[in-house]
Amino acid sequence: MALHGKLLQHLVVLLLLIIGVQLVLSAPKPNNPSCNRTCGSVNIPYPFGIGKDCYSDPSFLIICNYSFQPPKPFLGVDNIEVLNISLDDGELRVSNLVFRRCQWWPEYDNQKSLRRMSALLSLSKFRISLKKNSIFAVGCNFFAYISVSHEQDYTFMSGCISFCGNSSGLVNGSCSGLGCCHSAIPENTTNYNLAVQSIYTNGSSRTSGQSCGLGFIGETQAYNFSTLDFTNLTNRETVPLVLDWAIENKKCKDAEKNMTSYLCKAANSCLEAKGLGYICKCPDGYEGNPYLPDEDKDSCKDIDECKHSPYPCNATAICTNTKGSYTCTCPNGYVGDGRNPHGTTGCSRKDQSKIIIIALGISISLLILLVGTSLVYWVMQRRKLIKLKENFFQQNGGLILQRQLLNHKESVEPAKIFSAKDLEKATNNYDKSRVLGQGGFGTVYKGVLSDDKVVAIKKSNVVDQSQIEQFINEVVVLTKINHKNVVKLLGCCLETEVPLLVYEFITNGTLFDHIHDKNLSSSLSWEKRLKVASETAGALAYIHFETSMSIIHRDVKTTNILLDDNHTAKVSDFGASRLVPLDHTRLTTVVQGTLGYLDPEYFHTSQLTEKSDVYSFGVVIAELLTGEKALSMDRPETERNLAMHFVIAMKEDRLLQIIDDRILTEGNIEEIKEVANIAKKCLKVRGEDRPSTQQVTKELEGLRLLEKHSLKRVDPNTQQITKPLPNAPTHSSGTDVDIGSSSMSTIVADDSMKNQILKPTDNDAR
Ligand SMILES: *[C@@H]1O[C@H](CO)[C@@H](O)[C@H](O)[C@H]1NC(C)=O
Ligand SMILES: *[C@@H]1O[C@H](CO)[C@@H](O)[C@H](O)[C@H]1NC(C)=O
Ligand SMILES: *[C@@H]1O[C@H](CO)[C@@H](O)[C@H](O)[C@H]1NC(C)=O
Ligand SMILES: *[C@@H]1O[C@H](CO)[C@@H](O)[C@H](O)[C@H]1NC(C)=O
Ligand SMILES: *[C@@H]1O[C@H](CO)[C@@H](O)[C@H](O)[C@H]1NC(C)=O
Ligand SMILES: *[C@@H]1O[C@H](CO)[C@@H](O)[C@H](O)[C@H]1NC(C)=O
Ligand SMILES: *[C@@H]1O[C@H](CO)[C@@H](O)[C@H](O)[C@H]1NC(C)=O
Ligand SMILES: *[C@@H]1O[C@H](CO)[C@@H](O)[C@H](O)[C@H]1NC(C)=O
Ligand SMILES: *[C@@H]1O[C@H](CO)[C@@H](O)[C@H](O)[C@H]1NC(C)=O
Ligand SMILES: *[C@@H]1O[C@H](CO)[C@@H](O)[C@H](O)[C@H]1NC(C)=O
Ligand SMILES: *[C@@H]1O[C@H](CO)[C@@H](O)[C@H](O)[C@H]1NC(C)=O
Repeated sequence: MALHGKLLQHLVVLLLLIIGVQLVLSAPKPNNPSCNRTCGSVNIPYPFGIGKDCYSDPSFLIICNYSFQPPKPFLGVDNIEVLNISLDDGELRVSNLVFRRCQWWPEYDNQKSLRRMSALLSLSKFRISLKKNSIFAVGCNFFAYISVSHEQDYTFMSGCISFCGNSSGLVNGSCSGLGCCHSAIPENTTNYNLAVQSIYTNGSSRTSGQSCGLGFIGETQAYNFSTLDFTNLTNRETVPLVLDWAIENKKCKDAEKNMTSYLCKAANSCLEAKGLGYICKCPDGYEGNPYLPDEDKDSCKDIDECKHSPYPCNATAICTNTKGSYTCTCPNGYVGDGRNPHGTTGCSRKDQSKIIIIALGISISLLILLVGTSLVYWVMQRRKLIKLKENFFQQNGGLILQRQLLNHKESVEPAKIFSAKDLEKATNNYDKSRVLGQGGFGTVYKGVLSDDKVVAIKKSNVVDQSQIEQFINEVVVLTKINHKNVVKLLGCCLETEVPLLVYEFITNGTLFDHIHDKNLSSSLSWEKRLKVASETAGALAYIHFETSMSIIHRDVKTTNILLDDNHTAKVSDFGASRLVPLDHTRLTTVVQGTLGYLDPEYFHTSQLTEKSDVYSFGVVIAELLTGEKALSMDRPETERNLAMHFVIAMKEDRLLQIIDDRILTEGNIEEIKEVANIAKKCLKVRGEDRPSTQQVTKELEGLRLLEKHSLKRVDPNTQQITKPLPNAPTHSSGTDVDIGSSSMSTIVADDSMKNQILKPTDNDAR
């Protein structure tokens, strides 16, 4: 028996094992490929399924009725048409009937039928979604309500009344009380009774026309009110209703404990359902069916976000898909999280702001540097200019001049010191058209000062220290002289590299021009010649004897005698002049003068006395008498020098042959002879034998008086004799006038010349 008992035990175990194996074998096979997963247009995902072994639980059985075209799915437990199944939120849409009452229906007047309630829906497994559904009452002056019974304890009622008024306020699409109203559904509603009723208990208050009242429970968002629903019976027969579904009646943490019954196959995918139980959901970044094991092709699969549209990363970033997520990488040279939407930093160029800041910094500092250096440069240039001016002033003998001027307070009218700017302006920046003449010493410009005074501005050619001395000399000498027959020095400028002298402007050119220019010489009458000679002699006498210090001109010649409009002589160019203290009669200097006018005695001895000027003046008289140049290559070699030519002619008593024809015709031979005698005396080789300028002046003045006297008989108004010269330049057109410049070279003679040019002209004097 014991054996039998044991055998029985074994058999029971074996039987249980077989049953267990059978149970395992009969367990649902969600990935069963033979399962139909669609019914008509509706997807039927696991845990729902059509047919055996296709669903997880009998409550998820879907029956596909192929008698419809297209086929329609129905809930196996409640025979309600399924519209669609959503796995994500545990929702299920079913088709719900609309309950309708129309006033023209015969039973409407039947009080009984009015009160009749209809049990329209009874759900065994799923619950009506509270959030997504509402009770609707549609119609004019109708109300709809449901009564929910909870375990026979109490009845919960809910509903609303829809008014129409005079029907003018009805708006299609608006369900807010006029023609349509809706209200919330009580909790835990699985089955309910719904009633639709007119607010009038009898038909006496029928509104005009035929009208129906509608009552239903449906998805709040899905119903669109239309007045058409009042009359058209076929317009609205069903509405969608949202049901909540869940797996088991357990919370996630409980369900997880039994792996055989736990349906969530993907990791971390369990969610508490809205109703009872749990649902499964693919984790973020995955999509698919979380109820299927990983190996199933429809299970939760990683979403390749990078292939989605719109591109999840910034357009410049590189998207890389990861399990459940993706990364955005900005390319080299960019910074940021690389993501696209708002609240992200996108991809921006690396160091862009830094580069901008650096560039800005560099440009600002460059600017500052530039401004700074140009400021420094400007200041330095100014200093340099000031220093340069000071230098020039010193170099140009400004200090010497100042000292000289201070020492000689007796100067009549102090020479003005002009600024370089003033003179630049006066000469129109030393314009070529303003040049009056050019000579060995420098250039003479015509200038107009700011007070409209016309001046001659003498500009030294080269900066030569020896010439500067000469220059200063001239300034100093001239400031001492105030004589009507000496060119007046107005001032000087020492700021420039080359010193500038400012003279009064003498309008009519040099005596040289008047003698040797054919056009001018015709108008140079004997009377005028005598006047010029007399005035020149007077000027020389003045500088020799009437100034505080005797002044020796040293360069008396026709080019240095200027004429104004009245043919008044003006002695100029005191550049070579020497001041000789009155008690000294002789001065040893470097021989300086112009060939043809140079005193041979001075030339040989270098002993300077005022008699040297007398000799030169003798040459000037000879030039006036003969109309010949002081030095002429046209004459025989021995007579090239005018002085020699003149003296020889006098000696040989052929004076009249060499006298200028123009003055000979004027018929005052005696006067001419007198003047020729004066010239002859002046040209004596020995200075001592020459008369003084005072004597010469006296004699010439005497002759002039005679001349005037003789003229008086012709024209008593001698003082006003101004015979207009036919070709005399007018005051305004005196641009060709030359002052002080020499058309003959002023030379510093050396020994080689001594024997060539100058020979004693007065043999008997030796
Ligand atoms: C699956 O559906 C097709 C039509 O959609 C039907 O012909 C077929 O019989 C169905 N199979 C099962 C097993 O229900
Ligand atoms: C399919 O629908 C028709 C019509 O409503 C019905 O007569 C039939 O019984 C249904 N078939 C099943 C299997 O429910
Ligand atoms: C289910 O039906 C609703 C309303 O008809 C629709 O909005 C939704 O897209 C449907 N879902 C699926 C998966 O068909
Ligand atoms: C309907 O009622 C509104 C106010 O409720 C009124 O303004 C309107 O004139 C009425 N229309 C008719 C046709 O009676
Ligand atoms: C509502 O729409 C229907 C048809 O779309 C129309 O016949 C009816 O007049 C509309 N009612 C209102 C109040 O606009
Ligand atoms: C509801 O119906 C009205 C007209 O009948 C239409 O204008 C509106 O777009 C509809 N709304 C929806 C959500 O279908
Ligand atoms: C709904 O059902 C749940 C579970 O059965 C219960 O706890 C809750 O009290 C119910 N709510 C109402 C309003 O009856
Ligand atoms: C129907 O309504 C009218 C007016 O409101 C009333 O006179 C009549 O008595 C009502 N009939 C019944 C049966 O209540
Ligand atoms: C009633 O509604 C249905 C469906 O919307 C439509 O086909 C039919 O023409 C309507 N009938 C009338 C009388 O408006
Ligand atoms: C686990 O679930 C299976 C199938 O539903 C059931 O047979 C078994 O008893 C459950 N085990 C526990 C410990 O609840
Ligand atoms: C990429 O990022 C940059 C910087 O944040 C942003 O300006 C740009 O609009 C982004 N591109 C796109 C397509 O979003």
